[in-house]
Amino acid sequence: MAKAARKSRPRVVKTVKALREALSEWRKRKQTIALVPTMGALHTGHISLVALAKKSAKKVVVSIFVNPTQFGPNEDFTRYPRTLDADLDKLADAGADLVFLPDAKEMYPDGFSTMLKPSGPAAVGLDDKFRPGHFDGVATVVAKLFTSVMPDIAIFGDKDYQQLQVIRTMARDLHLPVKVIGAPIVREKDGLALSSRNVYLSPADRAAAPVLHRVLKESAKAIAAGEPVEAVLSRGRAKIMAEGFKLDYLEARDAATLAKLGDEPQRKPKVRLLVAAKIGKTRLIDNFAV
Ligand code: PAJ
Repeated sequence: MAKAARKSRPRVVKTVKALREALSEWRKRKQTIALVPTMGALHTGHISLVALAKKSAKKVVVSIFVNPTQFGPNEDFTRYPRTLDADLDKLADAGADLVFLPDAKEMYPDGFSTMLKPSGPAAVGLDDKFRPGHFDGVATVVAKLFTSVMPDIAIFGDKDYQQLQVIRTMARDLHLPVKVIGAPIVREKDGLALSSRNVYLSPADRAAAPVLHRVLKESAKAIAAGEPVEAVLSRGRAKIMAEGFKLDYLEARDAATLAKLGDEPQRKPKVRLLVAAKIGKTRLIDNFAV
């Protein structure tokens, strides 16, 4: 079948001033606005968020900003994939209405002095332990995006599950009138969660990578069947390391707070399994509901 003709590209604005001017027209007409924050290098996972945004609001704003404050000094900020032309084509096809594309000076002008410091789900010994300061950067930039766009709803992927809980908590704590919605993880056929960082994987590492999803799925099934959690996790950790991964963590946590299980024995929480592991130079994360 012939590919449908490409729709025209969405309007791109680069400053908060231009953004607010563009939004004010929609607000006057009482049109609801959904925001999808991204760092670009868009793939089908990102586009699924835009599709959900289209269903949930009249107008869809997508931000593309590789946020320097959420990268550690030895992380991949400078080599993070940047594919703006292709991104804008994909956003045209997905029907995004407006793209906010600020540069670093727009988001962090000289003299910028106000970083957020989230705790709660941002201080539970998961990604916060392996990426110190990461969630300060995420919470700060997302709060700035929320106050700049003032969307009715904002959509984030379950893929970055700890990030989603940090953002929910931040929006609640700061009384930001935004409904934060989580969207399901989009995966490759073999289970690997789509990620902008998957392009870093060598063919051999790519072949090994689905072990993360496999272990999450098997472990969730075993825990749901009543096997002791620690025994299941030890087995899973061994399987992941046997594929050549350096494991940061494989943990079972309270799905809402990300606290360790058993910290509040009076409740029987929903459980979420979370994993982070490095293969070659690439760090992958994934998670799964029990
Ligand atoms: P980025 O990694 O570009 O991801 C943007 C959004 O896409 C996030 O909400 C993420 O969870 C979601 N996403 C990524 N892969 C996905 C997949 N396979 N399925 C479903 N959703 C997926 O996350 C960030 O950017 C940044 O931290 C940001 C929130 C933009 C702040 O800078």
